[in-house]
Amino acid sequence: MEYTVRPDLYDLRHFDELMPGELNFYERLATQGVGPVVELGFGSGRVGLELARCGHEVIGVDRSGAMLEQARQRLEREKPETRNRVRLMQASMTDFKLEEKTHLIYVPFSAFLHLRTQQEQRACLRQVRKHLKGFFAGSFFRPDPQRLLKSPYEHVDFVRTARSGERVVQSSYTLECDLHEQTRSVLMRTEVFSPEGEQLENVLHDCEIAWIYGREWRLLLELEGFKLELLEGGFQGEPVSDTWLYTWVAS
Ligand SMILES: C[S@@+](CC[C@H](N)C(=O)[O-])C[C@H]1O[C@@H](n2cnc3c(N)ncnc32)[C@H](O)[C@@H]1O
Repeated sequence: MEYTVRPDLYDLRHFDELMPGELNFYERLATQGVGPVVELGFGSGRVGLELARCGHEVIGVDRSGAMLEQARQRLEREKPETRNRVRLMQASMTDFKLEEKTHLIYVPFSAFLHLRTQQEQRACLRQVRKHLKGFFAGSFFRPDPQRLLKSPYEHVDFVRTARSGERVVQSSYTLECDLHEQTRSVLMRTEVFSPEGEQLENVLHDCEIAWIYGREWRLLLELEGFKLELLEGGFQGEPVSDTWLYTWVAS
């Protein structure tokens, strides 16, 4: 399924929202080799743009032309040296092709969960393996079995104030969970309010995502020839059991 989120609203919600330690986590890995690093599911460049600002060359792979267009617009506003470090590539992470191997491929912010079947997940891992001479890293949400059993359910994901002063409310309505295939279909709502409280936007988009447990992830990586170096609950060494996130590094 195509990612149907409106890119400008994605940015309003997330653009300046790096998680504690997130940039450091990828930057540390990026500095361990030379040449470009590759971000899968680049979106509008929340992480990749920051790495480019730090001096790294970044290839941003995304299937969505609209998200890449949003990234292009952001790049226009960057200094030329930052802009020139970023190359955008419209392709699926299941069959992207690079001319040479790279020392870091990373997939942040649950983008990997957009691959819903194990065939797609393994196809992606095989492409990564083929193009990698260093580390494969990323993060995705840790599933909450209690909540998955309750579908359908509604949840307010967050309320935040954007830099513009607008208040953004994101909520999601999980319509259906397939407990056997580990996929769920979610209706996501983004509401935007002016500082005075007037509703400016009320937009819905749907999304189908998978969930993956830690020990399953370990097996998938092993099956595709990776060695898991680290599986934690955050970017600063948090134990897996304490948080809602998995972070990993494999080689
Ligand atoms: C949650 S966003 C993450 C964007 C960005 N990495 C970030 O950290 O903000 C997921 C991104 O993955 C992209 N995506 C989904 N399926 C994909 C696929 N099969 N191949 C490449 N990109 C994909 C979407 O278009 C979207 O831009």
